[in-house]
Amino acid sequence: MSQKVLNKSPDNLKKAFSEDSQRNRRYAFYAKKAEEEGYKQVAKMFRAFAESENVHASNHFKRFSGIKSTSENIEGSLEDENLAAQTTFLKYLQEANQEGEESAAWSFEKAGKVEQVHSNLLTKAKESVSSKKDLPQVEYYVCNVCGNTVENSAPEICPICGAPRTAFFKVP
Ligand SMILES: [Fe+2]
Ligand SMILES: [Fe+2]
Repeated sequence: MSQKVLNKSPDNLKKAFSEDSQRNRRYAFYAKKAEEEGYKQVAKMFRAFAESENVHASNHFKRFSGIKSTSENIEGSLEDENLAAQTTFLKYLQEANQEGEESAAWSFEKAGKVEQVHSNLLTKAKESVSSKKDLPQVEYYVCNVCGNTVENSAPEICPICGAPRTAFFKVP
């Protein structure tokens, strides 16, 4: 009986992408903390690591997914955000509530609501790109408390988390 040899590398590339993406974010957070603690050069080292992990994540991603067209990327992102908003984060929120984990519940609830915002924005992008048009020119503002993503101008109060206008930063 012949045994099928399983090729582990496709799955390992996905795992490596996930792991190096996390390293990229972790090093960016650590750089910010080092900066706050006055360790300017340590901060710079962490920022260099973050950039390096970004290169790794990109290498892994290209090998298992390939960078597809913008139209396909919008479609895939829409599915992902819908799943996150309508299924995954609701489940996490429910479980956190059952366990009395208020801080985790806050994080899941806000992320889930913002993923729905992303889904709505992606739906508009899908319409534009399906007729080969770019989106109309607008500015995007992101709430640094909950991640809420809004067009045109920052609201007085974040409708998702209640943070003031000053919590919003303009996306360059
Ligand atoms: Fe999102
Ligand atoms: Fe917010």
